[in-house]
Amino acid sequence: GPGADLVGKHVVITAGGTREPLDPVRFLGNRSSGKQGVALAQAALARGASVTLIAANLEVAAPTAVELRLVGTALELEAAVTDAAAGADAVIMAAAVADYRPVQVSAGKIKKDETGDTLLLELTRNPDILAGLARTKRTGQVLIGFAAETEPDPVRLLVLGREKMARKGCDFLVVNRVGWAEGFASDRNAITVLDHDGDIVCEVSGTKMSVAGRILDLIG
Ligand code: PMT
Repeated sequence: GPGADLVGKHVVITAGGTREPLDPVRFLGNRSSGKQGVALAQAALARGASVTLIAANLEVAAPTAVELRLVGTALELEAAVTDAAAGADAVIMAAAVADYRPVQVSAGKIKKDETGDTLLLELTRNPDILAGLARTKRTGQVLIGFAAETEPDPVRLLVLGREKMARKGCDFLVVNRVGWAEGFASDRNAITVLDHDGDIVCEVSGTKMSVAGRILDLIG
């Protein structure tokens, strides 16, 4: 078994999906449940790491032994993970982060009587948090990103993963095939891990706990 190979290591993990508010009662969100990030936190604790879990709208319970930081939006997640990363041996970005947020957050509930038959939302880009962490990474820190892709063709999926690695600049990228029934919210996952050069490190298909174990082998 993996034993206690992460004793003395501080691992920061983001989990769940960000929500970008439209008004006091509505948001733009995604289907991330937080299961993969929580599995990573559980596995890291079991191997002796100290874990900071940055949790965005989890649908599952966080392990009690983590240092828990609750966030809602991408900007809140950015502030929390940037702060925590300063003292981390490894940062794992399993959260599903909104690429865009509404330009305006309405102070009151948006009313259809006032809006009419169509509602056009103007969105603005959120910062690329993972790329920012890669730029400011301290020596020796291992930075692991995910790439959630719906591409069904395995060859094309790898091409997308390598392109994303080039944009993000992390140490490892976990390419995660996702769809209506896979990846998001399910108990199982299928991943291909790429290193910084885009070469395949490993492929795993199984429970989110088994996937988590293989990802943590990258930082042991
Ligand atoms: O939570 P579960 O239901 O268990 O589902 C797990 C999962 C499918 C959500 C997870 O395994 C996963 O793939 N997470 C990444 C989802 C995602 O946002 O992927 P992306 O390809 O859009 O982003 C690529 C990477 O950049 C991710 O590490 C993401 O955290 C990060 N990112 C994205 C946008 C942004 N503005 N800043 C970021 O840092």
